[in-house]
Amino acid sequence: MNMASKKLRRAGLPQELCKRLSRHQITTCQDFLCLSLLELMKVTGQSYWNVQKLLHTVSQACAPRMQTVYEMKMKRTTNPSSAFLPTTLGDLDKILHGGIACGSLTEITGPSGCGKTQFCIMMSLLATFPTSLGGLDGAVIYIDTESAFSAERLLEMARHRFPDYFATEEKLVLIASRIHLYREFTCDSVLKRIESLEEEIISKNAKLVVIDSVASVVRKEFDTKLQGNLQQRSNLLSREASILKYLAEEFSIPVILTNQITTWLSDGLAVQADPLSPADDFSLSEGKQPFLLQLKLDPDTNLHYYS
Ligand SMILES: Nc1ncnc2c1ncn2[C@@H]1O[C@H](COP(=O)(O)OP(=O)(O)O)[C@@H](O)[C@H]1O
Ligand SMILES: [Mg+2]
Repeated sequence: MNMASKKLRRAGLPQELCKRLSRHQITTCQDFLCLSLLELMKVTGQSYWNVQKLLHTVSQACAPRMQTVYEMKMKRTTNPSSAFLPTTLGDLDKILHGGIACGSLTEITGPSGCGKTQFCIMMSLLATFPTSLGGLDGAVIYIDTESAFSAERLLEMARHRFPDYFATEEKLVLIASRIHLYREFTCDSVLKRIESLEEEIISKNAKLVVIDSVASVVRKEFDTKLQGNLQQRSNLLSREASILKYLAEEFSIPVILTNQITTWLSDGLAVQADPLSPADDFSLSEGKQPFLLQLKLDPDTNLHYYS
């Protein structure tokens, strides 16, 4: 369903036709494909055969593309710099084969105060760097649901970690203007924001999406003790996860999510004290596992686990 939300403008239809269709509130592939042939002939003003051709174009544009494993491997081998966003933490990058993977979702989990937000701020900074310095040379879309993002902290990190690069004020202004922050505090507004990300990514040339944190608004609004709520909550989270997965793949960008974990055992295994904790919803949503990397930050040992 998420591929179907692709805008018709990006599906290869003539711009004039897209304008005409948008006057009828037909803007996505899904809107287009849900209409009958007769309705399509009426709204496009085109012949039966032309409408058949248009249907083919739109279906192709939103159908998942087949890619062989060999092609995927070659793409990464020929252009390894665009396959990962290095974290600049040597050990972690080694474990991750180069950094946070482009084209997939990465979930950072750990207890409150373990450094998830700091990590996201650092990754945002790194994504704006030129590719020659290991960055992605792009903008960042940062959805903050806990008012945790701090611009001062970002600039502080920039000056402290990369004093040479940020020797002039000009570079600081440039990175600061490339990070677009959205504060969303309700489930509804987070979902709406996620649904509008495709346009944002294109218009801002975003190369990283961060959602910190993905579950806090859900935790606030849903009472897990009520069975119906649980279903609704899980539907919401899987809808969000599937849109984000589509965006990560479509634009070959990393998407970083944070999620608070409730209990932490001394042997390094994280367990959900509340088995229905939202941290599980993303990881367990159907079909997401192969695309989801989980980094667990441990505040005591500074170790990073991944699964
Ligand atoms: N501006 C800052 N300067 C230095 N350390 C900070 C700053 N902000 C937060 N920290 C430290 O980073 C730690 C991790 O914070 P944070 O990333 O917000 O955790 P989380 O998002 O996992 O709850 C905090 O315990 C705090 O000590
Ligand atoms: Mg945080």
